Amino acid sequence: MSMHTRLPTITLVLLFIIANNCTYQVSIGSAADSPSRYDISNGEIVKSLTREAGNPERGEQIVLDRERGDCVVCHAMPLPNREFHGTVGPPLEGVGRKYTSGALRLRLVDAKAFNPQSVMPAYHKVRDLFAVRPDLRNTPILTAQEIEDVVAYLATLTSTDTESSQPINPVSAAMAPSALPSQPAQPAYAVDGRRSGYTYLAADTQQLQNDAFANPGMLWVERGGEMWIQPEGGAHQSCTNCHGEARESMRGVRARYPRFDGRRKKLINLEQQINRCRQERLHVPPYAYESEALLALTTYIAYQSRGVPIAPQIDAATRSFFIAGKQFFMQRRGQLDLACTHCHDQLAGQRLRGEVISQGQSNGFPIYRQLWQTLGSSHHMFAWCNTAIRAEPFALGSDEYVNLELYMAWRARGLPVESPAIRR
Ligand code: HEC
Ligand code: HEC
Ligand code: HEC
Repeated sequence: MSMHTRLPTITLVLLFIIANNCTYQVSIGSAADSPSRYDISNGEIVKSLTREAGNPERGEQIVLDRERGDCVVCHAMPLPNREFHGTVGPPLEGVGRKYTSGALRLRLVDAKAFNPQSVMPAYHKVRDLFAVRPDLRNTPILTAQEIEDVVAYLATLTSTDTESSQPINPVSAAMAPSALPSQPAQPAYAVDGRRSGYTYLAADTQQLQNDAFANPGMLWVERGGEMWIQPEGGAHQSCTNCHGEARESMRGVRARYPRFDGRRKKLINLEQQINRCRQERLHVPPYAYESEALLALTTYIAYQSRGVPIAPQIDAATRSFFIAGKQFFMQRRGQLDLACTHCHDQLAGQRLRGEVISQGQSNGFPIYRQLWQTLGSSHHMFAWCNTAIRAEPFALGSDEYVNLELYMAWRARGLPVESPAIRR
């Protein structure tokens, strides 16, 4: 069934709350595939959401399905055929003994009924969500029948043997975060508890970043260096005409951006400053955000600041933008209802599927990401993380992302510029 036909007209109405015996009714869903309401009583939804009984085999498929339950992304489960299981939630072997079906049903429908701070998505809720991707609005993650199937599957997990729900192939040595580099000659990849993404990489990936000949991001640095001296426009000028040797004139620039732009009365980031010089100084058209050309010049300029500690200016002029960026970082969003802070502050070091979540520091950008097999800007990463939680991403170069970039730079203060960093 397609996303669109699932639940076109959800209305979610809180009918009444009787505080004393803690029973209330919620109406959810359309007549098509879920009942008009369910009762919550003492931490349970006792009655099945559908007339058809839950099917544990289908439930097992759903918990593995990346588009639907995807429970293994956060939980270890006794499913040996799946390689990597997450560690964000507790292992689920034994929950069929620990909880009634009614309690499991409520946990799936809305885990925040138990813990308002929970990072577990509400699988059958469409209200009180923010910035959900438009095509998923008013669509719960799982249909009522899928909830019943998963409840039926969880009820079969009755073993006392929690060993069996440990990941079958626990993270290999190569994927585990390696120890902090100890050589004193290395820049400080960790400052006051702030850890660069570098410290979460395996040693061979760190080596790739260190080695200028092996680092694939250096291709963009080389190309940017050629562009720096390439004359353009009617006056046949290049960046060198005004800025001379980038090695000297651009040293430290990356570490201070985004900065306040007095003319536009808002922030400007490095990409936008480059485009401003193109338009106003060279009188040539700006490059599209995330174009190879803009990435190359940005990476070339950022590379001149390698090792310089990140130090954005937070003052009266930038304060309101900083606050907007911080709010963005703290705000739950998307169908999975997660904020940046949940993954990158609270869950840093835990595993999502096989991947260790880092602090999400921005000092390496532009980064060469192995998953993308190409180089990307910080805004590319913000949009990727927004999309992962099924939230509506903003346009690259949007004010929202530039504000976020300033907050991220403050979070990374003191960490060295690593551009072009290598990340998984
Ligand atoms: C983003 C991570 C995340 C995802 C995805 C997730 N959970 Fe959870 N889950 C948690 C966390 C964290 C807890 C611990 C309690 C809390 O904080 O809400 C939890 C608790 C539970 C519990 C109670 C376990 C206990 O021993 O008390 C059950 C059952 C459960 N989850 C089932 C599921 C199922 C089934 C799915 C998939 C449909 C799922 N979870 C998806 C994070 C997640
Ligand atoms: C569901 C968890 C999750 C959420 C929520 C999330 N991210 Fe991420 N993020 C990841 C994962 C996984 C990676 C790749 C591995 C790593 O570096 O942590 C990542 C990587 C990053 C990186 C790159 C870090 C580096 O060292 O290069 C940045 C920056 C980042 N995220 C920012 C954000 C921002 C900003 C938000 C909120 C808009 C956000 N993330 C929300 C999971 C998340
Ligand atoms: C005609 C002179 C001129 C040319 C050509 C020029 N710029 Fe600039 N650039 C400036 C001036 C003046 C500033 C000071 C800020 C401003 O007014 O925008 C500046 C500022 C910058 C900054 C910010 C430096 C800082 O310390 O914050 C960057 C980055 C930059 N230019 C990149 C470039 C690039 C890349 C090119 C070539 C595509 C280029 N510029 C071409 C005059 C020029």
